[in-house]
Amino acid sequence: MNTQEFATLSAASVGMTADAIRVRGGKPIHGRLQMKGAKNLVTKAMVASLLGHTPSELRSVPEISDVKVVRGLLEVYGVVVDLDGDTLRLDPSNVERAHETSINAHAGSSRIPILFCGPLLHRLGEAFIPDLGGCRIGDRPIDFHLEVLRNFGAQVEKLPSGIWMTAPNGLRGTKISLPYPSVGATEQVLLTAVMAKGKTELKGAAVEPEIMDLIAILQKMGAVIQVDTDRTIRIQGVERLEGYSHRALFDRNEAASWACAALATGGDVFLEGASQPEMTTFLNVYRKAGGKFEVHDDGIRFWHPGGDLKPVVVETDVHPGFMTDWQQPLVVALAKANGISIVHETVYEQRFGFTDALVKMGAYIQIHTECLGSHACRFGQRNYEHSAVIAGPVDLHGADITVPDLRGGFSHFVAALTADGESTIKNVGIIARGYERFLEKMQTLGVDFDVIG
Ligand code: EPZ
Repeated sequence: MNTQEFATLSAASVGMTADAIRVRGGKPIHGRLQMKGAKNLVTKAMVASLLGHTPSELRSVPEISDVKVVRGLLEVYGVVVDLDGDTLRLDPSNVERAHETSINAHAGSSRIPILFCGPLLHRLGEAFIPDLGGCRIGDRPIDFHLEVLRNFGAQVEKLPSGIWMTAPNGLRGTKISLPYPSVGATEQVLLTAVMAKGKTELKGAAVEPEIMDLIAILQKMGAVIQVDTDRTIRIQGVERLEGYSHRALFDRNEAASWACAALATGGDVFLEGASQPEMTTFLNVYRKAGGKFEVHDDGIRFWHPGGDLKPVVVETDVHPGFMTDWQQPLVVALAKANGISIVHETVYEQRFGFTDALVKMGAYIQIHTECLGSHACRFGQRNYEHSAVIAGPVDLHGADITVPDLRGGFSHFVAALTADGESTIKNVGIIARGYERFLEKMQTLGVDFDVIG
């Protein structure tokens, strides 16, 4: 499926009938939005249900197309999925083999299929992964995942259509040390180790809040998982896991995105369901940039207090650092700040492609291959354009934009909100992969827009 087809599918699958919107910018956004469960937890929690012998229940599930993709895949394997409001019930009592063509047909452009491997090897003794999609923000290899699975005893065969795996002797606990604290590879270890025979020790683990929430789910299912302070996770495999009942952690990426939109447009939003501990690093940067926030029991209010925004120097990093998924909408707000800001991207090597459109709209942004941060990262001296210098304040003007990826696309949308005049945003369905009820939320916030087509 190409980007255009996927955008249309994404849009259609979450009730967005349009693939393009026309936005008339220059107005602050104001309003109250509800934050549902995190895309990057909910989809993994759905996969975890495959490990249970009894049904699972997941609450606060957002209406996003990634959830639909994972639901389709689970159904291919015989899981009975029922959605009632924002509660998903997943019954894996009759998990069965699936054919390559049905798996390919349902995988869409998600990266989640790789995480089915451990649970399927436990349940069926085999697993197939189609060619993986996901946002084009770097090479996004799966070498850590394959190495992890081989360590547990999986036999991996690469075919033109995808990767076949078997575990003729079952999966056994092992010692693994990740070269980089990868979120996906850590989840791969967790979803495989919980039912592998014996103990597993993972060093160099990612410890993002979404991973901690996945651990909470697995513990509810009966897993034995210990998280040490030095990125070491120890898992004692068990023979049987039950279903879980869980309310998903809120989507802190969505919250940071709308908070930046309020900052960039001079607006004021209350994000119901957002909570402070998972956003501490973001809140520090928001304050340094001149944004105001107020933490309430039921959410966080973010607003622009008037006057100039201030430039900041930010390096993206694994948790507890500043998330790579937060930098794109922040960059738009920094284009409005008075002075020179620097953003050093250290998680993905190719995540500044979205700035081309911002430059077209009048932003002054230069991208460099050097590490312009306080430490040299993996991408220095390797010709990766991974540091941005942003000079402001500038007035952006409307433009015709085609959304390249999820977070980049949202930042284009924020730029269109701040711009003078009209912008046309195409491929807008990609945004629906991770932003629930996107058009409805735009209406709530008073955005002046129409849907095209
Ligand atoms: C998850 O991607 C998120 N996706 C990403 O969200 C997020 O940006 C990222 O974690 C970092 O927080 C989902 O949860 C579905 P990684 P993941 O493995 O797990 C390299 C969004 O917009 N690497 O932590 O794929 C990789 O290339 C997105 O919501 C390898 O080299 O990220 C990257 O440089 C996009 N080999 C780094 O590690 C591997 O086998 C971190 O990637 C795996 C990863």
